Amino acid sequence: MPHSHFAIHPVSPTLGAEISGIDLSQPLDPAAAAGLAGALDRHLVLVFRGQTLSDADLVRVSGHFGPLDKAPVTEHGRLHAPGFEEVYVISNVTENGRPIGALGAGESVWHADMTYLETPPYASSLYALEVPAEGGDTGFLSMFAAYDALPAALKRRAEGLSIKHDSTTNSGGYLRQGFAPPADLATSPGTVHPLVITHPATGAKALLLGRRPHAYIPGLAVADSEALLDEIWAAAIRPELAWHHRWRVGDLVMWDNRWTMHRRDPFPDDQRRRMHRTQIAVPADAWNRSAA
Ligand code: OGA
Ligand code: MN
Repeated sequence: MPHSHFAIHPVSPTLGAEISGIDLSQPLDPAAAAGLAGALDRHLVLVFRGQTLSDADLVRVSGHFGPLDKAPVTEHGRLHAPGFEEVYVISNVTENGRPIGALGAGESVWHADMTYLETPPYASSLYALEVPAEGGDTGFLSMFAAYDALPAALKRRAEGLSIKHDSTTNSGGYLRQGFAPPADLATSPGTVHPLVITHPATGAKALLLGRRPHAYIPGLAVADSEALLDEIWAAAIRPELAWHHRWRVGDLVMWDNRWTMHRRDPFPDDQRRRMHRTQIAVPADAWNRSAA
């Protein structure tokens, strides 16, 4: 039966809320979907525990939030769940000697997803099918909190600058298929975005950092860009601003990819971790407006 009653429990001072009282394997009525999208706007990360979702469910639930992008190209080529081009597989598991997913078992450092695109995904959903007994936690950071935490002088230096987001490597630091390692950061492939972005409804400012490796601030000498980015990153990724999710099988975690970054702890490679992800292009209300 469709349902629209759920409860929202914030999990940290800066971001994140656990949603209880909802079974996402059942149809989601429009009011509930709108309520969840509002909760994602407010809390930036939503956690749903104890779900039992097929790939079709994951696509259906994510689709309430907006149109889905196809899975990106990984270090092993284009991998997606069988039959679902929009379901990206994140796993260290190999089958017949071939990796079934991206990112392996190593650490994935702080990043936002696919910011090397002109329009990076609005949100991502990550669903846990198999989790290791230790490690593999995923951390989240509010980029509003990160901006607020910058010393005033650094805020002033960041204002008005842009930043090039590298498209040669993925969030595991692996070279994406079809790309060469960047030789000169000033000319290597990527997409330029503003370094400081403003929430259209609240006016709050956030940093748009994407990923640290191979990032570049156009107009600066590479060495100056490196120094300024190091300073901004060090001030932004303060442990007290972050919240870390310890996974259980059946957890679905959604994050607003515009105003957050995330990272993943490494885990023992002899343990299996298998996650299915969708990437939501733009919010459903933006899509309805442009489709009208
Ligand atoms: C992602 C990602 C981290 C994880 O899905 O974009 O970075 O915990 N995943 O697997
Ligand atoms: Mn990611």
